[in-house]
Amino acid sequence: MLSRDEGVSEVLFTEEQILVRSKEIAKEIENDYKNIENKLCVIGLLKGSYVFMADLLRLINLDVQVDFMKVSSYGNGKNSTEVRILKDVDFQISGHDVLIVEDIIDTGYTLEKICDHLLTRNPKSLKICTLLNKPSRREVDIKIDYNCFDIEDLFVVGYGIDYAEKYRNLPYVGVVK
Ligand code: PRP
Repeated sequence: MLSRDEGVSEVLFTEEQILVRSKEIAKEIENDYKNIENKLCVIGLLKGSYVFMADLLRLINLDVQVDFMKVSSYGNGKNSTEVRILKDVDFQISGHDVLIVEDIIDTGYTLEKICDHLLTRNPKSLKICTLLNKPSRREVDIKIDYNCFDIEDLFVVGYGIDYAEKYRNLPYVGVVK
């Protein structure tokens, strides 16, 4: 039988470590948004964010509205500035507090595009939450409001993150050989 772990050389963050950090971030978010007038609009970026987002939302005791966006990017590094929106948000975000949830921030091009796009709709506020952040890879300036872990420039998989669509269902973040 094929193992879902095959090719993983090291566990970077265990499920327990991720949960501990997610709880801390969830409390911060709860505290920061406790006095908002409307529902908090939480937008996950497909596909990678789905596992972290499911954890995070169940730890946040706030009234939320949930949706997903999907983008495609072309090329790598400097060439991946081409980001196209394949699925947009279905609800109105004008005047609402919006929180984007990501699995990993690398060059920052994806979030730059998403933020520019969402800001044209005049949300009351727009913040970013990510499971992983790779500061050494950044090519555009992105303000991250909630960050679980900074990591080195490693090829990571699991907890929603894939390599050629494999490994998304690993219950930890690992490094591939
Ligand atoms: C990954 C990740 C971010 C983006 C970050 O998505 O989920 O959305 O790359 O890269 P950037 O900061 O360099 O723009 P990916 O394109 O792998 O799609 P997926 O989430 O569907 O796996």
